[in-house]
Amino acid sequence: MSTARPLSGEPAIDVADLRRTYRTTTGTLRRHRLEIEAVRGVTLRVEPGELFGLLGPNGAGKTTIIRVLCTLLLPTSGQVRVLGMDVVERPRDVRRQIGYVFGGDRGLYDRLSALDNLRYFADLYALEPRMQRKRINEVLDLVGLQGRGTERVEGFSRGMRQRLHLARGLLHDPPVLFFDEPTIGVDPVGAREVRQVVADLARAGKTILLTTHYMFEADSLCDRIAVIAQGQIVAEGTPQQLKAGVTARTVVEIEAYGVPEQTVARIRELPEVEAVTIEVRDQAQLLTVQASEGSQLTGRLLQLLEGVRVERIAAREPTLEDAYVALVTAG
Ligand SMILES: Nc1ncnc2c1ncn2[C@@H]1O[C@H](COP(=O)(O)OP(=O)(O)O)[C@@H](O)[C@H]1O
Ligand SMILES: [Mg+2]
Repeated sequence: MSTARPLSGEPAIDVADLRRTYRTTTGTLRRHRLEIEAVRGVTLRVEPGELFGLLGPNGAGKTTIIRVLCTLLLPTSGQVRVLGMDVVERPRDVRRQIGYVFGGDRGLYDRLSALDNLRYFADLYALEPRMQRKRINEVLDLVGLQGRGTERVEGFSRGMRQRLHLARGLLHDPPVLFFDEPTIGVDPVGAREVRQVVADLARAGKTILLTTHYMFEADSLCDRIAVIAQGQIVAEGTPQQLKAGVTARTVVEIEAYGVPEQTVARIRELPEVEAVTIEVRDQAQLLTVQASEGSQLTGRLLQLLEGVRVERIAAREPTLEDAYVALVTAG
């Protein structure tokens, strides 16, 4: 029998070989069936009290995983448990123990005060009326909006709105929290405040699964990270462990003009090259080439770039960002 609290040693979040396929159709006259395998065999465990990050580019499958965990979407196959409870068999019990906030969430009433918004949701969540006032003050405090409760939401910044969303997700004091891209669309200062709230909640003992496509956000916040690309986990570990995976690499940055496509292709084909990315800045191209350590990379690249105008070429230490780029662009 499973209980609401995890048995000792049991993970707070337990996802085993999760798959989720979307079935849609395209075309207007001739309908074509389309199957999108959004999540393709994801297995992960989050321990009680852990702050775990799902890091991946747009379309990787992050939101799909979160929606399954929040009981908003049924899995195609696999086993998904929250605090020992199966999300398919016991969705209502799961919902009582979780809070969730999706990035870019709407659903706040602009003309109402923050307090009235929270009162509305407290009613919706059937929070005991006697408890409401106390709890609403607590959550405003938790998200750093104490003293702002009587102001109308229309005057709030994006960061304040997002923190009010977090407050809403905390009303029923759930032990497990899901945040999907919590800082998306929030300005840098507001985003830092949102991250601070997430860190405070983790310190207060909540189990948190958050998604982000910002590498630095995962790095600065999370105890552990799973990097996800095209519906699969491609790497998992602490930020330090993920960094260790690239320290044995050389990274060379090249600023050049009019690099022919064949040249880029030939760079990619070099046996020691692990990843190549290209950014266009004004007229120039910025190539970042990752290769195994010790290779005479700079010399080889200059050979291949003969006849191309190279402004700058420099080797540097690899970063976690490089690890992330190599992981999500591989294959
Ligand atoms: N309701 C849907 N119907 C069809 N395809 C979808 C639907 N939701 C997401 N997808 C597709 O599934 C894949 C994963 O999407 P999503 O889980 O939203 O990724 P992420 O949150 O990492 O950006 C994408 O290819 C996306 O286009
Ligand atoms: Mg998403």
